[in-house]
Amino acid sequence: MSLDLNLDKILIIDFGSQFTQLIVRRIRELGVFSQLISHKKIKNFQIKSNIKGIILSGGPLNVYQLNNKLFDNQILNLGIPILGICFGHQILSKFNGGKVRQSKYREFGLANIHKKNNSPLIKNFFNKKIKKVWMSHADHVSKLPKTFRVIAGSENSKFAIVESKNQKFFGVQFHPEVTHTENGKKIISNFIFLICKIKRNWSPKDQKMKLIKEVKEQVGTNKVICALSGGVDSSVVAQLLNKAIGKKLYCIFVNTGLLRKNEEIQVVKTFKKRLKINLIYVNAEKKFLNKLKNVSDPEKKRKIIGNLFIKIFEQYSKKIRNVKFLAQGTLYPDLIESRSVTGSQTSKIKSHHNVGGLPKRMKLKLIEPLKYLFKDEVRKLGLELNLNKDIIFRHPFPGPGLAIRMPGIITKEKINILKQADYYFIQSLKDYGLYHKIWQAYAALLPVKTVGVMGDNRTYEYLCLLRAITSEDGMTADFYEFKKSFSQMISNKIVNNIRGINRVVYDITSKPPSTIELE
Ligand code: XMP
Repeated sequence: MSLDLNLDKILIIDFGSQFTQLIVRRIRELGVFSQLISHKKIKNFQIKSNIKGIILSGGPLNVYQLNNKLFDNQILNLGIPILGICFGHQILSKFNGGKVRQSKYREFGLANIHKKNNSPLIKNFFNKKIKKVWMSHADHVSKLPKTFRVIAGSENSKFAIVESKNQKFFGVQFHPEVTHTENGKKIISNFIFLICKIKRNWSPKDQKMKLIKEVKEQVGTNKVICALSGGVDSSVVAQLLNKAIGKKLYCIFVNTGLLRKNEEIQVVKTFKKRLKINLIYVNAEKKFLNKLKNVSDPEKKRKIIGNLFIKIFEQYSKKIRNVKFLAQGTLYPDLIESRSVTGSQTSKIKSHHNVGGLPKRMKLKLIEPLKYLFKDEVRKLGLELNLNKDIIFRHPFPGPGLAIRMPGIITKEKINILKQADYYFIQSLKDYGLYHKIWQAYAALLPVKTVGVMGDNRTYEYLCLLRAITSEDGMTADFYEFKKSFSQMISNKIVNNIRGINRVVYDITSKPPSTIELE
């Protein structure tokens, strides 16, 4: 959908630094809309009057590799204030007549910089003459352009902060966007408010009003369908559309039989009863179980579930007449192509199940109202939309559900055992105040039976695996360290209360080398 937010913004040109998304986030945290664009696309990008400032990110390239194809330096002639960070700082110097060289010593980590001159960029940044900043570079600016002057320097980077004399260009060799740089956010705040003079325009309330208005305009008198899973993203999309277009929205919720305990009851209660959304509840438990009978290959399971889900979704959406749009909870990180700079492609590890395959077949137009938002912004928007905290701060749950937490074949009996184990685990995390310290937690049932002894009897039952991880975004993860008392309590609770499990193990692998889910 062509929902380009027509707001004043700071444009960030991405040269592939691992920190680029952080720049976008810092600016948004300051209450200003910021947008990311790859340096490769800048040539075709229309610089509109609502761009009040530009930031050139860091990146793995060398400035001497930059040619017209990789960077359109016309951007420097627009009269818009520009802040260059690390590699961006080197670009500004090079294209204004300065020199960039390979450093004798690569500078990675903390460095002290010393203040030399005043500049609006550093207002209230230095409380003493020295500041600790985070450096990560192999090249450095060796000669400043004639029109520039130095504001601060470090031992290895004479030109750690610079500005052009007409105060349109600013460069910092270090990374103000990372938390290791003391007070780094001040540099960004000074750039956007004092230099670009942009006004605050980005709060959950602003987003809500703006998105509701835009969805209303886009949909007109047509109808929209939405696959509701009960997870954060689809829930926020559904409620946003509910506020915008009310009964023109139809949500389809498919109970695959592979959901967490009582999940289908909660979804119907929240969306149909409390929020009065048009909700079509499809109980497809038997269909999924039939199709999955005797299947143990993880990829096959995923494919079967994904395909059946699409089939059911199509079947039910056909019953609604005149549907023109499909709403999806695509988020901003899904759209950002910052990894393309080095050309590397991550190999396929698991085929994730979502409804992305739907529109081509169904010839529906997409509505993706969250496509400019990060996850934490989606959560804040959800609160603004009056959604339950339980839904908003829930741990992620994969589309294929419990099927991929049950290596081997799937049976109704195993699903029932697993639902109970997961319920006890998650409930205990909540009771002990641990749930929100953990990014994701779940129980899995391993296809192994082991011997145990309960009372005077021998048991021969399944092995339950617990996994709890901390993470920023699910790309990397570490296992959470429980106290022995908690581990003991949860192991007893599961074994004593659930027939079918007589042993509990805890997964202590990080990601990588493991993944978060088992399959
Ligand atoms: P992995 O196992 O790849 O999981 O480390 C990373 C995150 O993605 C979730 N996940 C999925 N989410 N459909 C989804 O919507 C899927 O097929 C899927 N597979 C994994 C997983 O729960 C974790 O949060």
